[in-house]
Amino acid sequence: GRVAVLFGGTSAEREVSLMSGSGVLKALQSQGVDAFAFDPAERPLQELKAEGVSRCFIALHGRGGEDGTVQGALELLGIPYTGSGVMASSIAMDKVMTKRIWRFEGLPTPDWRMVGSVAECEHALVALGAPMIVKPAREGSSIGLSKVTDVSQCAAAYAAAAQHDPEVLCEQFIEGEETTCPVLTVEGEALALPVIRIVAPGGNYDYQNKYFTDEVKYLCPSQLDADEEAEIQRQVLRAFKTLGCRGWARADVMIRKTDRQPFLLEINTSPGMTGHSLVPMSAKAAGLSYEQLCVHLLASASL
Ligand code: DAL
Ligand code: MG
Repeated sequence: GRVAVLFGGTSAEREVSLMSGSGVLKALQSQGVDAFAFDPAERPLQELKAEGVSRCFIALHGRGGEDGTVQGALELLGIPYTGSGVMASSIAMDKVMTKRIWRFEGLPTPDWRMVGSVAECEHALVALGAPMIVKPAREGSSIGLSKVTDVSQCAAAYAAAAQHDPEVLCEQFIEGEETTCPVLTVEGEALALPVIRIVAPGGNYDYQNKYFTDEVKYLCPSQLDADEEAEIQRQVLRAFKTLGCRGWARADVMIRKTDRQPFLLEINTSPGMTGHSLVPMSAKAAGLSYEQLCVHLLASASL
């Protein structure tokens, strides 16, 4: 049957998904796969049946795509799809739920508070200490995210986050090195790919710098010490397995400057596949081209 590449969608990361999905579609077609574009924002998913679709490649990001809802619909339609199932997708979309599970399982993640008002955000700053990150619990690509160093900034930071999600997360800022590490399932076994170190101007790896500038330096190989790289990979694999993720994902990790301790920030179950994105970069360092990566992911589609 045919393959639908699902991309677009209605989330705040629609623009990113359009870039990911068009890359994936082109790559699959170049490898002889009978693939076509399907935007759930424009067509109901039931139409996948009439289109004779036998597998879906999910290149949607954010809510209504990466959060278990589309995965649930595909389960009901009986169409295999790439990536994590309903529960892991839904938990991973929510940074607070994710952190609760990681903390419970003894995985290192920065301290946090969930807040429902500016006043609670100000209290969180006292409790967590400055600087602090304020962000929507269920967003991606740094949308609605602010770094707060002074209590006077809480009102604006809270409003920016709450605009995207009523669930707002305040998280201790980890000063140090920003890294990311993909996980790929190969022959049923989850493997960590090479770590990427991200060096952004002024530490500002924001939406613009993620997708639209060439200001960010990516180091892959990471040039971290081999033990440190292995420790990040070990923690990321535990983070993946603990949530019951499947197929692939990419976890973002900060290494604390003072003691080199890695801290897990979040795991993306439908990572970016744009020209600036990180899974393709790491896969390439492991010897897998963008096209090979897409074909491998499609082959792992399941129910
Ligand atoms: N949320 C974006 C797409 C990423 O993590 O790559
Ligand atoms: Mg994310």
